[in-house]
Amino acid sequence: MIEQSRVNVSISVLSTDFTELEHTLELIRLSGADSVHLDIMDGRFVPNISFGSSIAADIVRASGLPCCAHLMIEHPEEAFDAFVAAGVAELLFHVEATRFPFRALQLLNGFGIRKGVAVNPATQVESVFPLLGSVDTVLLMSVEPGFGGQSFLPGTLTKVRALRSAADRTGTPLRIAVDGGVDASNAAALRDAGADELVAGTAFFGAPDAPAFVRLLKGA
Ligand code: DX5
Ligand code: ZN
Repeated sequence: MIEQSRVNVSISVLSTDFTELEHTLELIRLSGADSVHLDIMDGRFVPNISFGSSIAADIVRASGLPCCAHLMIEHPEEAFDAFVAAGVAELLFHVEATRFPFRALQLLNGFGIRKGVAVNPATQVESVFPLLGSVDTVLLMSVEPGFGGQSFLPGTLTKVRALRSAADRTGTPLRIAVDGGVDASNAAALRDAGADELVAGTAFFGAPDAPAFVRLLKGA
């Protein structure tokens, strides 16, 4: 019997060759990954520009998988409608990018999508404890946002544990996702620390056997 893994795997297309996007999405679909991770960057919140909601809509349409929009943009509230219209299944904005995270989360109610916040490596995880109960997901960045291919920051493991125990202490349902530098060397520790979803980009595209890589991240 194939063991059902507790951990989801989401593949970031940031580092892919966009002239090969159709092939990339098929590779992700065939790999057994659970979703596609869309890294949206505005060149202001992070020193890089990626793509917007129209390309996100193309990827949603072509991928055949649920897509998560990771908004690394200033004033994320201004982009919510466009990415909901693009058909994403989950929308995450950075808690550092708005002064009013509760108000931003309320804007996402009623669309039938999962919602949550992303947290930079230097942001204390305790800062999102008040939001537990209002979010479906907390995405813990294990690299400084803006680029793929960076090295995993090991301090993230402590943040995963702290967040998991805070949610368990209050019986609050919470998906903990980790994003940045995730690969075969840190996946088991992240699962053991309480992560529910692992986001991978560079390590996925560098893997000689994509399905085996996904199984390894899942611990299956
Ligand atoms: C970084 C992005 C991550 C990154 C993951 O700002 O949020 O999703 O693309 O890619 P790797 O796995 O290459 O770190
Ligand atoms: Zn991301």
